[in-house]
Amino acid sequence: MKAIVFGGSGFLGSHVADALDDAGYKVVIYDIKPSAHLRKAQSMITGDILDQKKVEAAVKNCDIVYNFAGIADIDEASKRPLESVKCNILGNSILLEAARKAGAKRFVFASSLYVYSKAGAFYRSTKQACELLIENYHEVFNLPYTILRYGSLYGPRADDRNFIYNIIRQALTQNRISRHGDGEEIREYIHVCDAAKGSVEILSDEFVNQHVILTGNQQMKVKDLFFMIREMLGNNVKVEFLPSKENTHYEITPYSFAPKIGRRLISKTYLDLSQGILESVYDAYKQISPLPTCDGMVIKDKKKR
Ligand SMILES: NC(=O)c1ccc[n+]([C@@H]2O[C@H](COP(=O)([O-])OP(=O)(O)OC[C@H]3O[C@@H](n4cnc5c(N)ncnc54)[C@H](O)[C@@H]3O)[C@@H](O)[C@H]2O)c1
Repeated sequence: MKAIVFGGSGFLGSHVADALDDAGYKVVIYDIKPSAHLRKAQSMITGDILDQKKVEAAVKNCDIVYNFAGIADIDEASKRPLESVKCNILGNSILLEAARKAGAKRFVFASSLYVYSKAGAFYRSTKQACELLIENYHEVFNLPYTILRYGSLYGPRADDRNFIYNIIRQALTQNRISRHGDGEEIREYIHVCDAAKGSVEILSDEFVNQHVILTGNQQMKVKDLFFMIREMLGNNVKVEFLPSKENTHYEITPYSFAPKIGRRLISKTYLDLSQGILESVYDAYKQISPLPTCDGMVIKDKKKR
């Protein structure tokens, strides 16, 4: 079986491309930028999802089409609404059309747990539009789909647009975590490798034409996450809550009424949140202080001994 992963050079898409490879799929990555994580068994097409001809040529002979491409950041979508509509809605429609023409067995879309929450602005509206268009392609052309609604992701390959990555970096470099709001918001964090595994599991018949929620098994208040990171760093980090400012981010709960309720996929095995955060602290530390290490021990330069 051949799968094409649009946006496969990105944070989530690259992990899903690896999980597909691990599961025995032939994987093609299509992204506007080359992947820094490309495996030997994966092939790469560098291109824009808005390039319809190139997309259609790439999707030919593919059984499964994943879409992770587009503007993935709430703040960026708010600053560039027209670009978000083009890239996220038109881009997704071009992929749907290509999947329909190629007779794909499944179209998988990366939506968000917060797709019907009150905040999220243009990011949220593009996700809603994409979900509706996917349902239309199924109703009119019988294109099989699975819509994945991800919770808050963290883990390797994240960059500074990722909330947990940012918090850890701030704690490590400034001995401080500061945030607007009271930290009472509840989040369900999921390690990106667990999310990637789940994103392949949903290819079974059980999840065809379904909306699936892929999120962590532990709910946590944002402030408790900060206190956990502070404790891991030996309590030398100041946690401060600044006056709340109006923003486009989500408030207390991730859940709100959705016209299409999602089924929740719960894996039997998953990475414990505190273990996953600890691993992220190590990763961020290695990036900030790139000293050679062996089993967590820093190797000193012999000449300096
Ligand atoms: N990261 C999260 O916490 C999270 C949570 C819920 C949903 N999602 C969704 O998952 C998807 C992937 O998110 P991510 O965090 O991996 O983002 P990301 O920015 O790391 O990945 C997006 C990828 O799309 C590519 N891309 C952008 N515009 C393109 C274009 N015009 N043509 C081809 N490729 C293009 C980028 O180069 C990038 O590699 C997004 O749709 C996002 O909304 C992510």
